[in-house]
Amino acid sequence: MQQIVLDQYCDGAPLPENFRLETASIPEPGEGRFRVRHIFNSVDPGTRSRLSGGDSYAPALPLGNPIDGFSVGVVEASHNADYPEGTEVYFAGGWRTHSIQSGRGFIGKVPKESRLPLSLWIGILGVPGLTAWFGLKSIARFQAGDRVLVTSAAGPVGATAGQLAKAGGAGQVIGLAGSDAKCAWLVEEAGFDKAINYKATPNLSVAIGDAMPDGVDVLFDNVGNAMINRTLPLMRQNGRICISGQVADYNLSPSDTPGIVNTKPFITHRVRMQGLVVFDFMPAFAEALEAMSAMIQAGDLTYREDRFVGLETMPEAFCGLFRGDNFGRRVVQLDQSG
Ligand SMILES: NC(=O)c1ccc[n+]([C@@H]2O[C@H](COP(=O)([O-])OP(=O)(O)OC[C@H]3O[C@@H](n4cnc5c(N)ncnc54)[C@H](OP(=O)(O)O)[C@@H]3O)[C@@H](O)[C@H]2O)c1
Repeated sequence: MQQIVLDQYCDGAPLPENFRLETASIPEPGEGRFRVRHIFNSVDPGTRSRLSGGDSYAPALPLGNPIDGFSVGVVEASHNADYPEGTEVYFAGGWRTHSIQSGRGFIGKVPKESRLPLSLWIGILGVPGLTAWFGLKSIARFQAGDRVLVTSAAGPVGATAGQLAKAGGAGQVIGLAGSDAKCAWLVEEAGFDKAINYKATPNLSVAIGDAMPDGVDVLFDNVGNAMINRTLPLMRQNGRICISGQVADYNLSPSDTPGIVNTKPFITHRVRMQGLVVFDFMPAFAEALEAMSAMIQAGDLTYREDRFVGLETMPEAFCGLFRGDNFGRRVVQLDQSG
């Protein structure tokens, strides 16, 4: 088997040389355990928070450890009756070709009757889709009629959140993304009302204000504190901010991370801001996945995938997330059966 481990802690943007490819013998599962051959692995911006050497919202990854991530694969050896050989599973697998699992924690079986592509179970039907679902419905307490602003809107979390808001009767859904092609896809394919290329917009605050003259009920933020600062003055009465992610801030040291300075709207407009850890909602994952699968099959929810091939491509696939290179969910295919 092969795996990618952390070779050096990252300082600023991650670089391929922070990682190392290792070869090891294929492990045998012990009692109650089973071995999964990974078919797809994901790269996730949030992984960066464990790679600086200091604890973030998750403890720092020790040097030499395999990198975290999500995977979909097939059980190829089992001493666990619930996961016999041939079962297709999605799970927290990490950057490797094989892993031993116990069946506890974040793991699910791909429904046998599912005709959807296997890779979706680490994309729109994986953690990104679930983040959009629970971020919007449970943290932002979305209601029909809400005017919604989504940052990093062409990523798998943002694109799904915006589409779920539209499907739920949003008054307006505006997305921010870093290229004209991403913006065009958001409007033409994903049904956003408007998308703004923030990299080509000199005064972004003015552009958002012009696009949302009645203000913002929900900010679904994947980017970080600068976006929250920019949007706070536009928040409507009882507005809600879901802090889903902080991709612009993950590479910064705590002292370089922008603060949130204009906090008055929390009082004047009763704005509420709450962070999300999607795994808090694990007991409700199955219901959300069933609903989103049905929406995809009905053509009411779309997605983009950005595929790499081969475990060795994972460091480069990951580093590109912080340059905006990915257009959709970035997955790495390890096995031709996917
Ligand atoms: N809270 C949770 O439980 C949870 C779970 C999963 C994921 N998340 C978070 O959700 C967010 C979105 O995740 P995702 O998987 O859908 O990834 P994603 O949005 O595709 O993240 C990569 C994208 O972020 C944008 N980006 C990168 N650097 C940026 C910067 N400095 N400023 C603004 N945008 C930047 C780029 O898009 P542009 O081209 O548009 O710049 C890039 O393509 C992430 O922050 C992730 O950590 C949270």
